[in-house]
Amino acid sequence: MGELRVADATTVVVGRAVADLGTVLGAFRPGVVGVITQPGVPLAIAESLAAEAVASGLAAGVLLIPDGERAKTLALVEDLCRRLADMGMDRSGAVVGVGGGAATDLAGFVAAVYLRGVAAHYVPTTLLGAVDASIGGKTGVNLKAKNQVGLFRHPERVVIDVDVLDALEPSLAVEGLAEALKAGLIGDPRLVDLLEGAGPQADLEEVVTRALAVKASIVGSDFMDRGERNHLNYGHTIGHAIEVAGGLSHGRAIAVGMVAAGRISAEVAGFAEERRQTEIIRSLGLPISAPGVPADDIVELMGRDKKRAGGALRFVVLEAIGRPRVTEVDPTTVRAALSVIGI
Ligand SMILES: NC(=O)c1ccc[n+]([C@@H]2O[C@H](COP(=O)([O-])OP(=O)(O)OC[C@H]3O[C@@H](n4cnc5c(N)ncnc54)[C@H](O)[C@@H]3O)[C@@H](O)[C@H]2O)c1
Ligand SMILES: [Zn+2]
Repeated sequence: MGELRVADATTVVVGRAVADLGTVLGAFRPGVVGVITQPGVPLAIAESLAAEAVASGLAAGVLLIPDGERAKTLALVEDLCRRLADMGMDRSGAVVGVGGGAATDLAGFVAAVYLRGVAAHYVPTTLLGAVDASIGGKTGVNLKAKNQVGLFRHPERVVIDVDVLDALEPSLAVEGLAEALKAGLIGDPRLVDLLEGAGPQADLEEVVTRALAVKASIVGSDFMDRGERNHLNYGHTIGHAIEVAGGLSHGRAIAVGMVAAGRISAEVAGFAEERRQTEIIRSLGLPISAPGVPADDIVELMGRDKKRAGGALRFVVLEAIGRPRVTEVDPTTVRAALSVIGI
């Protein structure tokens, strides 16, 4: 079992069989515990946390919400706040989010706004949730666009049970492997070696710990997403556009986006490991192209992307593995990179 601090605000515990109440709450003894989870998440985790709380004399309950992205609505925020009020939660309460990134994004937002803020504790149960969504303090819901309403607020504690992650279906695990590889590419060459050597069989405890350390160091220095946090968007400029225009899942879309970003990096930043990067992406079971997605749609969507500044297309590129920087890239280079990924 290992512990990590993020931005002097969040304690992260990574280990096996750690999703018990004592580890999830740490030394904190809340008045009321509201455990928010979704039907697609193994229900036993939330139920046993609530049962442990009740057994130790706390008022507690499981608040079940619709599954996946459908839960990230303002209507559900209101509904959950009403349910917490009905449970009698005052400011000494704790919201525990158990699930993937959708559940923890929503739980974190509810915890942040209910009575102007109660404690938020997460048990991420997807690999993407574990390596990406659970730390960094971005919470929120969708409106017209994804994550259009939300705020920055770190959770108090995050408890990652590697046994739960080991049991994930490969098709869900690859989503997180894509983000873990991204973390390695921007900040930890040894994580890249690990994923290259073992592929999808890589030891998830080490993968998660290393990927989190990269994100922790970046959000620690740029909580409000004004500078260095951009590096976390490696592969995401083209990846987001592919996600929207091609209907690929986020992890798969950013895998293809990283292939294109690797090409751009080779062109403008002297990145010498483009082919190696592509091979690792392939060996993880992720796509390396997105044929059939119209190039004009991608260019149009990238133009609208909120990460754009001042008219030019800005990309995170790699000078080498572990050495990212942000740079403006001309449209010809972008089009050439799109052709590498079949677009
Ligand atoms: N806050 C952040 O910094 C941040 C970063 C990245 C992503 N996100 C958000 O995270 C969300 C995506 O997260 P996600 O990929 O975890 O998707 P998700 O939360 O939608 O979960 C995907 C599916 O997996 C199911 N699931 C969860 N745990 C499971 C388990 N152990 N076994 C089987 N099924 C399980 C869920 O019920 C859901 O149906 C998006 O809403 C995205 O905006 C947030
Ligand atoms: Zn991402």
